[in-house]
Amino acid sequence: MDHQTPPYSPPHVLIFPLPLQGPIKCMLKLAELLCLAGDIDVTFLNTHHNHRRLLRYTALDSRFSAYPQFRFQTISDGLSDDHPRSVDRLGDLLNGLWTVTNPNFKEMLNSGGGDRRPVTGVIADGALTFALDVAEEVGIPLIYFETISPCGLWTYFCVHKLIEAGEIPFQGDDLDAPIQSVPGMEGFLRRRDLPSFCRTTDLNDPVIQLAMRECRQVPRSRGLILNTFEDLDGPVLSHLRSLCPNLYPVGPLHTHLKTRLGTQSIPPLASSDSLWQEDKSCMAWLDAQPSRSVIYVSIGSLAMMSMEQLVEFWHGLVNSGVRFLWVRRPNSIVGEDSVGQIQEELSEATKERGCLVSWAPQEEVLAHPAIGGFLTHSGWNSTLESLMEGVPMVCWPYFVDQHVNSRFVSEVWKIGIDIKDTCERGVIEKMIKDLMNAKGDEFRQSMDRLSKLARESIDVGGSSVCNLNRLIEDIRSMKV
Ligand code: UDX
Repeated sequence: MDHQTPPYSPPHVLIFPLPLQGPIKCMLKLAELLCLAGDIDVTFLNTHHNHRRLLRYTALDSRFSAYPQFRFQTISDGLSDDHPRSVDRLGDLLNGLWTVTNPNFKEMLNSGGGDRRPVTGVIADGALTFALDVAEEVGIPLIYFETISPCGLWTYFCVHKLIEAGEIPFQGDDLDAPIQSVPGMEGFLRRRDLPSFCRTTDLNDPVIQLAMRECRQVPRSRGLILNTFEDLDGPVLSHLRSLCPNLYPVGPLHTHLKTRLGTQSIPPLASSDSLWQEDKSCMAWLDAQPSRSVIYVSIGSLAMMSMEQLVEFWHGLVNSGVRFLWVRRPNSIVGEDSVGQIQEELSEATKERGCLVSWAPQEEVLAHPAIGGFLTHSGWNSTLESLMEGVPMVCWPYFVDQHVNSRFVSEVWKIGIDIKDTCERGVIEKMIKDLMNAKGDEFRQSMDRLSKLARESIDVGGSSVCNLNRLIEDIRSMKV
């Protein structure tokens, strides 16, 4: 017997998303891809609150029961059950994560793998800056995953430069002034295209402080996973590599997973990853609509709009004459309780040419032949999902990276129109008409080219496949 060789302990990776819909969704896809590797134990760490919601609205438990090496684990987010966890109370969530989740996470890692093999590596959302300190203290390697866009992330990394150059902070004035301190985007970005937290006079704002902390922590980790592919974000990835040399661009993850499941003859995903109940009735409504005649309207999982903005969007949509499928997420309208009368009027009027749901099966919707455009908040998942289905976008970004994303959608990738900072019925009407007619055809050509490159990246030997295989090998080699 060879006493020199320690017994082989299979790798056990713990995946820790930021407890929000976007990050949970793409980290679940990564988790499933890692399960498909066969020999990696995967623990997915949800907050108690989000896990209850996932169990209520999805069949995730049974989907993942196909992988004996997978399990969910839960942790407190420090908030009471009835806390709304809405974007206007994001500060409470961050506070809960740092004061309650952080020490619990440390205890969890210290206690090894619980009833499983010890955790040999952690994959955490880049915004969870405490995770690296904890992992280092416990002696477990950590790889960060930034689920926002690479172009947005690069602007985060340049925030200190922007401050040094006096380009931020600024208030809402002269938003068209060009920005010079983001290498590779000099003069191309305007003030209005910077992440929303730059529009402040207070550099102690918790979100800008978090972004700066994130940019100090991420380069100290073992590597950085990104939901993109080399051919989409090449120049930005070069800049990011100057700070984080070990990048794993493995996206677009939703298509990457579908393709991998297909090659292993595993049936397509049986359930969604939604924190809200999907209303599938809109699929039958879409079946009855002509090809490319419908614009899909959704502002994602966090963004909100005021009553005035809701009314402008509604008039713009109705006046455009275009059919629409509109997601009105619960609590997405400021002062929703007082919406009453107007909600009813809108619902009545939309019956003729529209369909209203509170949460849609978005990936299925975007793949439906009746969809011809997407009025979106430019969240990174939504952008990639739209790109892969060849659905051109009208972008109305709300916050964080979305302002950078919409600039790239319109001016770099040329797959949509950016209407940020505008919410006026006449503009919305015109942009929708343009999108659903000549401009949409033009954008679809760029999308065809990009989605073809994306498919090559997730085909055998493609860049995202190679990066995923490298990530798997690196996880296998992690020793505590
Ligand atoms: C957050 C940030 O706001 C965003 O800027 C960042 O890029 C990612 O995380 P979020 O509002 O969650 O964005 O948007 P997005 O990234 O687009 O993710 C939303 C997800 O919810 C998408 O995967 C989409 O398919 C899904 N969705 C949305 C549904 O399944 N149904 C819906 O009705 C709406």
